[in-house]
Amino acid sequence: MIRRSVIAGCGSFLPGPLVPNAALESRVETSDAWIRERTGIQGRHLVADGETTADLAIQAARAALVRAGVEARDVQGVVLATTTPAETMPATATRVQGALGITQGFAFDVQAACSGFLYALTMADNAIRLGQAETILVIGAESFSRLLDWTDRTTCVLFGDGAGAVVLKAAPGTGSIQDRGILDTRLHADGRLYDILKTDGGAGSTATTGKVRMRGREVFRHAVEKLTEVVEETLTANGLTPQDLDWFVPHQANQRIIEATAKKLGLGPERVVLTVAEHANTSGASIPLALAAAEADGRLQPGQLVLLDALGAGLTWASALVRW
Ligand code: UT7
Repeated sequence: MIRRSVIAGCGSFLPGPLVPNAALESRVETSDAWIRERTGIQGRHLVADGETTADLAIQAARAALVRAGVEARDVQGVVLATTTPAETMPATATRVQGALGITQGFAFDVQAACSGFLYALTMADNAIRLGQAETILVIGAESFSRLLDWTDRTTCVLFGDGAGAVVLKAAPGTGSIQDRGILDTRLHADGRLYDILKTDGGAGSTATTGKVRMRGREVFRHAVEKLTEVVEETLTANGLTPQDLDWFVPHQANQRIIEATAKKLGLGPERVVLTVAEHANTSGASIPLALAAAEADGRLQPGQLVLLDALGAGLTWASALVRW
C-alpha cells in the first residue's frame, strides 16, 4: 500500500470582462488577425487597479474547496505558484491561508514562471506521499499584466491574468498505473537559458521595477523540443504510449506550440484541452484554469488518464501524469 494524492476538486477565477484583441489595437501596432494567427489568442482577462494576485488566488481556492467538498479548517498546506506575488514578502500563499481561515500546516510560494503550477503540484504531492499532510491546496495565480511593457507588441498581446486551484487529498494506492491520483511528476530546468525570457529588473534585491523581455522565436523552439521530450520521458517511464492518454492539458502559451507538440506525439485535437483563446498565457495559472474548465464542463471524468506539461522562464519545464 502506498499513499497517492488525488485531485478532489478544481476552482478558478478570472478578473474583469474578456478584453478582446481588438481592444489592444489602439495601444500598440498590432491586429486581431496577427494575434489569432500567430498564437490562437482571442482575448484575455486583466486585473483592475488595486486588484492583486492574492485576490484572484483566494477566489479560486474557495471555489476549489467547495467543488472538493473540503472545509478550509481541514487544509494542512497551501502551495501557491506565482511570478507576480501580491508582495515580495510574505508569500502570497500566507495571504490565502489567512483569508480562508486556515490555521494549521504550511504555506509558501513557488516561483518557476509558467512551469510554476507543476512545480507546486510536485512539492505538494511529495508532502502528501511522505505523510506530512492529508489535504493541500495547490494554486496557480498571476497578475501577469503588471509585468508587461504596454509599448512592446511582441509581449503585451500574449499574456492574461487569472487563478486556478486544486485540492489534493491523500488516498491509498497500490502503486500501479491504475491508481487514482498523481502517478508521476518530472521537473527540469536549464539556467543557461535564463535570459531568453526574463524581466529586466523588478526584484527586491535590486529595488527596480522590471518588465518582461522575451526572445520569442527561441523560446518557441525550445518549448516544442523540451515539451515533446518531457512527455516522451514520462510516458516511457510508465510503460505508456500517447494512445493511452485520455486528455493532454498543456500550459497555454501559444496554440501553435500546443499543436506542434501534440502532432509530434500523435495526439489528435479531440484529446487536447485548449483555453488559450479565451485566457491568453496566464503563466503559472494556465494549467489549473484549464483543468477547472475541463472538470466543470464534464470533459474530465474519474478514472481517465491525464497528462500535464509546461515550459517557462528559467528555462523550466515539467510534466505530471494524473489518473483523474
Ligand atoms: O509561457 C512561456 C513561454 N512563452 C512562450 O512559449 C512564447 C513562445 N513564442 C511564441 O509564442 C512566438 O514566438 C510569438 C507569438 C511570441 C511570436 O510569433 P512568431 O511567429 O515567432 O513571430 P516573430 O517573432 O517571428 O515575428 C514575426 C513578425 C515580426 O515582423 P517582421 O520582423 O517579420 O517584419 C514581428 O515584428 O511579426 C511582428 N510582430 C507583430 N506584428 C503584429 C511581433 N509581434 C507582433 C504583434 N502584432 N503583436
